[in-house]
Amino acid sequence: MSATPLKIETHEQYESPPFGPSSVHPDPLRQFHEWFKVAQSPANPEQGGSSATNPTFAPRSRVREPEAMALATATATGIPSNRTVLLKEVDSTGFVFFTNYTSRKSVELLENPWAALNFYWRETHQQVRVVGKIEKLDAERSDQYYQSRPLNSRIGAWASPQSLVIGEEELAQRVKKVRERFGVTDDSETKDIARPEFWGGWRVVPQEIEFWSGKPSRLHDRVVYRRQTTAGTGESQWTIDRLAP
Ligand SMILES: Cc1cc2nc3c(=O)[nH]c(=O)nc-3n(C[C@H](O)[C@H](O)[C@H](O)COP(=O)(O)O)c2cc1C
Repeated sequence: MSATPLKIETHEQYESPPFGPSSVHPDPLRQFHEWFKVAQSPANPEQGGSSATNPTFAPRSRVREPEAMALATATATGIPSNRTVLLKEVDSTGFVFFTNYTSRKSVELLENPWAALNFYWRETHQQVRVVGKIEKLDAERSDQYYQSRPLNSRIGAWASPQSLVIGEEELAQRVKKVRERFGVTDDSETKDIARPEFWGGWRVVPQEIEFWSGKPSRLHDRVVYRRQTTAGTGESQWTIDRLAP
């Protein structure tokens, strides 16, 4: 490696609409919904993504891939790991993604059922952080989502022993075997394949959600929701606070 130090360019100033505890929705999942809708709205051509120079990279939405989120997990002894996954559903209880249940992330979630999510939306200068307990999505909903995926993705789920060491040719051979097993040919686009039991959804049920809105001079707006659960009834309410940037 060259001895020249890596030069990190000076950062642009952040600027996004004012945001504070008095203007937010009392339910953080509804608040997330509102931010996500804006992030997913049609792209403003003034903002990022140069469609003139590379039309295939023209952003479809204001935020490119707003559903991409960092997912942090940890082993039972607290050793963390982190990777990107795609948010596929937000329901009234939490954030849902799909993966292999024998992957490293799933093994960690099975031994330590806490996870953290992070969405960074560079185009709108926003960040959403979630900390929560994890639960397995019920089989029916995992089936529904699995069946909505393109055929090759469904085959891929069967073929990949996600997170294990694999030989150079092994994946292609495994795909071939799965295709043979289910009688898939090049023109069987709608072939019905059952979801593998080792693949499905997880839901992160938030205990805490923070919305971060970038501001000039690092005086960002931060609003945190924390769940307070009443002992006995199990009912929960959200407290909402501003945090120092
Ligand atoms: C943009 C992006 C989206 C991804 N989405 C998923 C996903 O939804 N589910 C998944 O299992 N892996 C997804 N991956 C791959 C994961 O980041 C990771 O490589 C894989 O899940 C294995 O992680 P693990 O070994 O920590 O379990 C995605 C990667 C990227 C870069």
